[in-house]
Amino acid sequence: MHTFGHPSDIDGLMAVARDFNLIVVEDAAESLGSYYQGQHTGTFGLMGTFSFNGNKTITTGGGGAILTNDLELARHAKHLTTTAKQPHAWEYRHDEIGYNYRMPNINAALGCAQLEQLPYMLVAKR
Ligand SMILES: Cc1ncc(COP(=O)(O)O)c(C=O)c1O
Repeated sequence: MHTFGHPSDIDGLMAVARDFNLIVVEDAAESLGSYYQGQHTGTFGLMGTFSFNGNKTITTGGGGAILTNDLELARHAKHLTTTAKQPHAWEYRHDEIGYNYRMPNINAALGCAQLEQLPYMLVAKR
């Protein structure tokens, strides 16, 4: 994770992960708008997470986001966070333990407005 938006030693961490055959899940909750050697934090590991809690750079009131380039992992994350319900017109069948971690539209709309303010928020925080 990257305290108060200051990127950690990602090269060092990735080297340790390579040496020990570890998967990196990057906690970028505090670092929206931060870059390490020109690449945005949260995009170095297999997955990255961002928080949009009220104490973060931008807020949706609560919730966050997961980033990954792994399509299967993205599909599975979406499945687990939307109650793991199998697609069906009327039946409710859940094939795993899932959760309702959907972000309500009203919160997402707030997030869109906040994103437009991100450059100013970053300047103010810095
Ligand atoms: C580094 C880090 N990870 C995770 C979290 C948790 O985020 P959330 O409140 O969205 O669950 C926080 C929030 O303080 C954080 O600073």
